[in-house]
Amino acid sequence: MKGVILAGGKGTRLSPLTKATNKILLPVYDRPMVYYPIETIVRAGVHSIIIVSAKEHAGNFINLLGSGKEFGAKIEYTVQDEPKGVAQALSVARDFVDGDDVLLNLGDNIVLDDISKDVRSFTGGAMVFLKKVKNPSAFGVPVFNGKKIIAIEEKPKNPKSSYAVTGLYLYDNTVFDKIKRLKPSARGEIEITDVNNLYINEGTLRYSFLKKEWSDAGTFDSLFETSEMMRRIINAKRRR
Ligand code: G1P
Repeated sequence: MKGVILAGGKGTRLSPLTKATNKILLPVYDRPMVYYPIETIVRAGVHSIIIVSAKEHAGNFINLLGSGKEFGAKIEYTVQDEPKGVAQALSVARDFVDGDDVLLNLGDNIVLDDISKDVRSFTGGAMVFLKKVKNPSAFGVPVFNGKKIIAIEEKPKNPKSSYAVTGLYLYDNTVFDKIKRLKPSARGEIEITDVNNLYINEGTLRYSFLKKEWSDAGTFDSLFETSEMMRRIINAKRRR
């Protein structure tokens, strides 16, 4: 299993904070956002990680993270030439993944759960991690038939469940051929939701629920709330 962290995109929803730097280098309370996806992947038992960013930011990631030793990981870096969506950014990591399975963590997704069991028992196909949210329309939303996910809708106006598909995914190596088959969506991006729907059509997508708090720090309000959340959690730990 290899870990992939995506730091692509223009971060337009956070401009001007992201004019001169990458979204996932912004602070979440007392540390840069990117520390969280690294910790999530390492906690899952995966120690070989690549960060995919825009060329303007790759040097900053190297300055901050170096070889990854401090995190107990080996971190490499690569560049997505144009921001054409999450799935396209993942495809840039194909050579690095080199035939293995992939644990993908979108850089702005703060996941505190330990998913090492899911990683150890992963036997192919795909796995998504769900979290109940108040505003499902802002995310990929699963459509259930009983306990089975029959589709995922990307940012639906009328969500058919109250769950978000979080930005943490397990894929087998067929993900790269699947991405090649996809066409850009209305917003001009190759969508990760379309990748997940290919696995659903194949009957190989499974899911699990995140039990701890989760946050997508990609907007002003959610970035602010994520800092508050981590401040509360970190201070509670210090008091113990
Ligand atoms: C992306 C995915 C969406 C997912 C979300 C999780 O959305 O497209 O399906 O629910 O991440 O944070 P984005 O935040 O890139 O708009």
